[in-house]
Amino acid sequence: MSISKLTSDKVKERADIVEVVGDYLPLKKKGQNMWACCPFHGEKSPSFSVSPAKQIYKCFGCSKAGDPIQFIMDIEGVGFQEAIRHLAGKYGIEVEEDETRTPEQNQEQNERESLFIALNFAKDFFVKNLQTEEGRSIGLSYFKERGFNPQIIEKFDLGYALDGWDHFLKAAKIAGFEEDILLKAGLILQREGDASRVYDRFRGRVTFAIHNVSGKAIGFGARILTKDKNQPKYINSPETPIYHKSDVLYGIFQAKKAIRDLDNCFLVEGYTDVVSLHLSGIENVVASSGTSLTDGQIKLIKRFTNQVTVLYDGDSAGIKASIRGIDLLLEGGLNVKAVVFPDGEDPDSYSRKVGSQAFQDYLKENQRDFIGFKIGLYQDEFARDPIRKAEVIREIVQSIGKIPDPIIRSVYAKEASGLLQIEEEIIHSELNKSLIKSNKDHFQKAKEEAEAEEKLEELVPSQGQLSFLEKLSIHEREILRLMALYAGENLADDGNTVLEYLLSETLETKFQTANYERIYGLFKGITTQGKGLDLKSLLDEFPGQAKTEVIDLVQQRWEISPHWTGRHGILVPTEKDDLAASSYRALLWFKKRYVEKLMDEASRNIRSADANREDFEQILVLQNIFLEVKKVQILLSKELGIVIG
Ligand code: CTP
Ligand code: MN
Repeated sequence: MSISKLTSDKVKERADIVEVVGDYLPLKKKGQNMWACCPFHGEKSPSFSVSPAKQIYKCFGCSKAGDPIQFIMDIEGVGFQEAIRHLAGKYGIEVEEDETRTPEQNQEQNERESLFIALNFAKDFFVKNLQTEEGRSIGLSYFKERGFNPQIIEKFDLGYALDGWDHFLKAAKIAGFEEDILLKAGLILQREGDASRVYDRFRGRVTFAIHNVSGKAIGFGARILTKDKNQPKYINSPETPIYHKSDVLYGIFQAKKAIRDLDNCFLVEGYTDVVSLHLSGIENVVASSGTSLTDGQIKLIKRFTNQVTVLYDGDSAGIKASIRGIDLLLEGGLNVKAVVFPDGEDPDSYSRKVGSQAFQDYLKENQRDFIGFKIGLYQDEFARDPIRKAEVIREIVQSIGKIPDPIIRSVYAKEASGLLQIEEEIIHSELNKSLIKSNKDHFQKAKEEAEAEEKLEELVPSQGQLSFLEKLSIHEREILRLMALYAGENLADDGNTVLEYLLSETLETKFQTANYERIYGLFKGITTQGKGLDLKSLLDEFPGQAKTEVIDLVQQRWEISPHWTGRHGILVPTEKDDLAASSYRALLWFKKRYVEKLMDEASRNIRSADANREDFEQILVLQNIFLEVKKVQILLSKELGIVIG
């Protein structure tokens, strides 16, 4: 799986931001940089810039930014490894796998690769079967009947599994595949009671290849062709090391570009709905394949858009059963709309019935945001029954409570109050109750993690007893020490001096230790004199008292116990060799201690607000502060290579 550092280094060296972005966007030169309309958010005038000098891209509209590898990750919706492979392919760099892997990792890797190869073989086999006599008369004619044309069949790798016990097995063996791998790939099955006898899983059915984001086949759904009620309509691949159903959406590979371009994703239930929508000219569509939506699938959608429109079959019992999916989408921070089809129709049948234009019009006219949709769903019920109305209100409020963004939450609260004809105050107070309840769980967990980390630090002598402020103070001092010692030295990778860099990165924070804040202020005052500044001339700048303090600062450093050096990233012998890295690490530690102090404050405030029985809203605000800061702390810890929780 993992690519060697050498390969990724070669790719980083070779990849040119202009060439990489240029493959996707028409870039126009203006001044030092190149410009285009941002591919990550809709816009009419270009605010997406590419800097050949810095080898980065940055959008001034949506603030996405990064290097060539990040660009590929963003635009293709793939991970780091995948992006490296992509660029290695572009530049003809040979991909070398990591040799430091254990034999087990190697074996796992080999197995995964074999599985991909086997699945790809099966996909080709099923596709070719469509051209055999049996395939044409049974499979192809079935697809034709459903209105699938050759282009769409090719686009989705639709195929046919011949009727018989071992057509596939035989072909796969001739091609050199071991039974073991075919079993693990879920392509064949062992006979009950006699594991030595194996046979094809998919027989006499049309096949829908299931692809991962980058277009590789990872499984199949196979539909029956008869009306036989004793057989399942679909037989699907089982879970395998390369097919985790909860992380996969049918059609994502064929849809991802359209989802991004249109900034919206249609969500349907079945394979055939996806294919039919493509036939109607709608390409931004994926299916959850009949199961309820998972977190993994929601994350997948979020790589491409924040807007989902759920298309429901027209039967209200079915909708009510699957409505939990909406809450999950809301919780994931997605903007949710819904469309319901006329009774008895699903997206596939309805699109074929009315044709492409009328279908698209129907979507536009009938899409509602989730509040309107939910209320509409229960309208008949609560017109009759006031108690039912109260239940529905509570349910809707709970859904609103799942939305992470407080501003969007209050927009919906207002809308709900209008539609339900209830005072907004009541909605808000219900909302707060349900928020407190769900927040409490998150909060509890975050707090436990923070405490676990504190304990970890207590293992290092002389640290556990320090207060958050004292710990922060140590890192404030460390920043000042680097400023003093290396003030005018250039950082390796850009024109900035150490002093300029450290100052620019700390401008928004106030040093908490009074003495250090004062010295920090003095440093701020001398930036104009720039490069070549050494400790001696620096000291000349400072008033008498501060001079002694700075000297003290520079020396104190050596008294720090050796325990500090490793754990706190204060690496004496090497820091001068790589000032950029040392400064960066010092900043990370400083920021980490800073947010930890904020977390401590928030956590105290919550406790006292709780004890004083202050209002819900206040506690909620405090809890959210804590959780936000905690997120930053986790990022910083990750960057420092400390594992939490
Ligand atoms: N499904 C399944 N196994 C079944 C029935 C359904 O895995 N026995 C999944 C399939 O992914 C299917 C989806 O649930 O695509 C939706 O089911 P359904 O609407 O019954 O199937 P369609 O794909 O719409 O097929 P058709 O249009 O031919 O009815
Ligand atoms: Mn269907």
